[in-house]
Amino acid sequence: MALPPSRSRAPLTRLVGADVAVPVADGGPRRYVDLDTAASGPASLAVARAVEEFLPWYSSVHRGAGAKSQVASARYEAARDSVLRLVGADPATHVAVWTRGTTEALNLLAFRLGLRPAGPGGAGDVVVTTAVEHHANLLPWRRHARLRVVDVAADGTFAVDDVVAALDAAPAPRVLAVTGASNVTGWVPPLDALAAAARERGVLLVVDAAQLAPHRPVDVARRGLDAVALSGHKLHAPFGAGALVVRRDLLRDGEPFQVGGGAVGAVSHEDVVWADGPDREEAGSPNVVGAVALAAAADELLAEGWEAVAAHDAALTAALDEELATVPGLRRYGPGPGSDRLPVAAFTLDGLPHELLAARLAAEHAVGVRSGCFCAHPYVARLLGLAETDVTRFHDDVRRGDRHRLPGAVRASAGRGTSLEDVRALGAALREIAATPGRAAEYAVGPDGHWQHRGEPAEVLSPAGR
Ligand code: ALA
Repeated sequence: MALPPSRSRAPLTRLVGADVAVPVADGGPRRYVDLDTAASGPASLAVARAVEEFLPWYSSVHRGAGAKSQVASARYEAARDSVLRLVGADPATHVAVWTRGTTEALNLLAFRLGLRPAGPGGAGDVVVTTAVEHHANLLPWRRHARLRVVDVAADGTFAVDDVVAALDAAPAPRVLAVTGASNVTGWVPPLDALAAAARERGVLLVVDAAQLAPHRPVDVARRGLDAVALSGHKLHAPFGAGALVVRRDLLRDGEPFQVGGGAVGAVSHEDVVWADGPDREEAGSPNVVGAVALAAAADELLAEGWEAVAAHDAALTAALDEELATVPGLRRYGPGPGSDRLPVAAFTLDGLPHELLAARLAAEHAVGVRSGCFCAHPYVARLLGLAETDVTRFHDDVRRGDRHRLPGAVRASAGRGTSLEDVRALGAALREIAATPGRAAEYAVGPDGHWQHRGEPAEVLSPAGR
């Protein structure tokens, strides 16, 4: 489908590798269409430039007397300010702790809050969370506390009233842990209302901002959030750093999550004096390249401006809705138009296993998406309407090592590096796949349990010019 000129929209952010072409089953090379940015986005040109400029200065952080160490240490510390600015946090009350990403940030926090785990009699601290969560905002809390999970309706959204009821139930919870945006459906829960409810009740509010931060202001200070977690690789800074932005007082006392060099002031065989501030949480030689990259990504995003990002996202979301609505046999999961969403869509095509659909998009059309349950198994089970017995059966399959029958969906996700042309390419590819069901015979489940094209899959699926 040709795009009318008035509706064309170029990427907002220039990304490394945007012009990479890959072979496809019928030849190629064809420009790779990256619609998997909710998983990981390539580095932006600005981030890559910042890393390149910093590399000559790379040296040990907080451990060296040399000039390069001084520069590296200063850059590492200054990078915290960029992250605080990105999420609208006040440095007087909040600190940015470097982590590997959102998952490590939430594991760290769940450990550091000193929650009392569930005991045999049901005692222990309660954490309220929701059925929308990514495993990163579910499993760390389950390890350290008793979960009270707010359920979702068939469209994958929950009601604020249900969260309020869970906050008001006895025993009173210590934490509300909620996502800022779903990585599966793109739904953006009403964070202002949730924050107000948590604040009124004195419950700590922790936001998994992995998906929200690349698209919307997190507004830590305005909303009164206690902690937020985010990942550089979703912000076009894939150099291994993420952050926990957290109230300083919550980490003042207690043992760090990881122990070792850098986290201490003094150590003897009998005693240890922990370091103060973020150092206490950052044992080991820090990832200064990741911090520099994440700071550059934050600065670039803020320079582009939230208004421009919102306009770009709105155009992408509308185009996704329009394209997916025209594919025969396509089922979409999650809330529809009229709800607050990021440009993310989960769907299946009747008669095609989700993973086979993703493989066909890749092999025949050079379109990269993710399929499966997106590290949010309970949420996807609810969206697909699976019964408890189905879930048990699939768990048994996985225990036996049989993964390819697992339920799931395909997810297309877009962002600042996506053009409208990319979304149109997805629509055209899906319509062609729906019209050519016979081509599924070209695919088989390989020895690794995944669907792949039979015709020299290495050639078909690997980047050009390997
Ligand atoms: N959390 C990432 C995703 O949604 C990996 O794909």
